[in-house]
Amino acid sequence: MGKNIQIAIDGPAGAGKSTIAKIVAEQLGFTYIDTGAMYRAVTYKALKENIQLNDEKKLEEMLLKTKIDLKPSPNGQLVFLDGEDVTKKIRSNEVTANVPQVASLAKVREILVAKQKQLAKDGAVVMDGRDIGTHVLKEAELKIFMSASVEERAKRRLLDNKKRGIPSDYEQLKEEIALRDQQDMERKISPLVQAEDAIYLDTTHLSIEEVAEKILHLAKEKME
Ligand code: DC
Repeated sequence: MGKNIQIAIDGPAGAGKSTIAKIVAEQLGFTYIDTGAMYRAVTYKALKENIQLNDEKKLEEMLLKTKIDLKPSPNGQLVFLDGEDVTKKIRSNEVTANVPQVASLAKVREILVAKQKQLAKDGAVVMDGRDIGTHVLKEAELKIFMSASVEERAKRRLLDNKKRGIPSDYEQLKEEIALRDQQDMERKISPLVQAEDAIYLDTTHLSIEEVAEKILHLAKEKME
């Protein structure tokens, strides 16, 4: 058993972050924290309550009365919103299309980032998102910035959606991913950008096992 380090994994949509983060966490006996799921849960609730997605005040009020829990299970991480299991619901096309708008609001980020820091404070975590290495866990011992071509990412999302029973179209996914990249990279607050001390990993031509192996190797060096 080595040190309980923090591992931050950032990168654009569909780069394989969550798949890899889950494997790495499991292998190390660490906790996996999917921050994208938190932004998705907030978006899901706002849509359900018919709150305008640019109404920062209303969203802040809503968030202060919202409980989001991430719980591990044998079938992967479950997401609970005010006690309701929303794991599947937060992956809908409607939530996916609207989450960048919600994730661009300062108040929303402030509240969720505070929660993320709290969850990671004792270490032994693998956290994935867009701003983990740059904002949430600036002191993380290991930071990875993962990416892959838009085509490869659309292919992966297509497979992923198929497994989850979500109907989707490759060309449309490609367009959506490119648009989401742009929205995530161009937003004013905490845009998607590689931290200076992050290691860049292009996963276009690598298998899941190869990427996980690389990160596990780097993690073990840091844990010594
Ligand atoms: O990783 P994902 O597709 O589940 O992320 C959903 C959205 O949330 C995506 O548009 C980017 C945003 N996000 C963010 O802004 N910051 C994070 N730490 C994680 C996700």
